[in-house]
Amino acid sequence: MIEIRPCAGFDELEACVDLQIETWGYDENDIIPRKTFLLAQKIGGQVLGAFDNEFPPDPPASRTNSLVGFAMSLPGVKTRNGKTHAYLHSHMLAVRESHRNRGLGAQLKWEQRLEALSRGIRHMEWTFDPLQIKNAFLNIHRLGAIACEYRVNFYGVSSSRLQGGLPTDRLLAEWELDSPRVEAILARRPAVVEKIEESILIPASIDQWKANEASRERALTVQLENRQKFQRAFSRGLAVIGFSRDKDGNGVFELGLLPQAWSETRKI
Ligand SMILES: CC(C)(COP(=O)(O)OP(=O)(O)OC[C@H]1O[C@@H](n2cnc3c(N)ncnc32)[C@H](O)[C@@H]1OP(=O)(O)O)[C@@H](O)C(=O)NCCC(=O)NCCS
Repeated sequence: MIEIRPCAGFDELEACVDLQIETWGYDENDIIPRKTFLLAQKIGGQVLGAFDNEFPPDPPASRTNSLVGFAMSLPGVKTRNGKTHAYLHSHMLAVRESHRNRGLGAQLKWEQRLEALSRGIRHMEWTFDPLQIKNAFLNIHRLGAIACEYRVNFYGVSSSRLQGGLPTDRLLAEWELDSPRVEAILARRPAVVEKIEESILIPASIDQWKANEASRERALTVQLENRQKFQRAFSRGLAVIGFSRDKDGNGVFELGLLPQAWSETRKI
């Protein structure tokens, strides 16, 4: 039985730090310390944990080592259309390897959404690496986020093992929490089909290319080519509105004009 709830107390926040290190393999320059998790909670952000009370099976689980996932967000302030609003920047989402692909990552995000809406916050955003097919699938297809901003080498050099030494290029995922698009996904209603103007492909082997010194150059070439494609498409007013996988496991970003209904709710 998995329980998702706000982390409480120093030990549970420390467990998030441990899971962060286990997930990304960060060195001391990149690690977000317990203090920052604590602050996130105190200043209007979120630290939600997923706890599996049967984990690990041996020895019997304690309160803290049963943490199998977490989502952390920081509060932000944005001015759009002359109005200033609070929003949440979701900075980290991690699920322990043993518990992945069971819907837990998505569940943590939906809980973040509910908690945000309960405080009147209608917008969340986060950055993600457009070379990570699984993350793109989760963010765009499963959650209904949209992307229309590309940030080149956003964090500078990163010690994350998932980065493979490549520039930290990121797409900005924007999640309009009560938009028709997101609510349709949540209610499992068929999405409105938007016209796709352009597709950008991520090869299925990209993670292997990144992980291996000999093939890293190949991954970098894809990153640089796709960077240009995204930048050109966004400057033409297109946005990432869909993501799919083809039969060979390649990821396909689908770009089109921002859906009208979505634009209307994007008022903050
Ligand atoms: C990203 C992460 C949090 C997702 O957690 P998770 O619990 O595995 O996610 P979910 O099970 O909710 O959803 C993953 C979806 O991707 C799919 N998926 C799995 N492997 C995939 C792959 N190689 N390519 C595309 N999609 C894939 C799953 O099938 C699932 O979709 P489904 O619900 O249609 O079956 C987890 O993989 C993780 O901790 N990764 C490392 C850290 C990270 O990258 N964090 C996010 C950026 S901050």
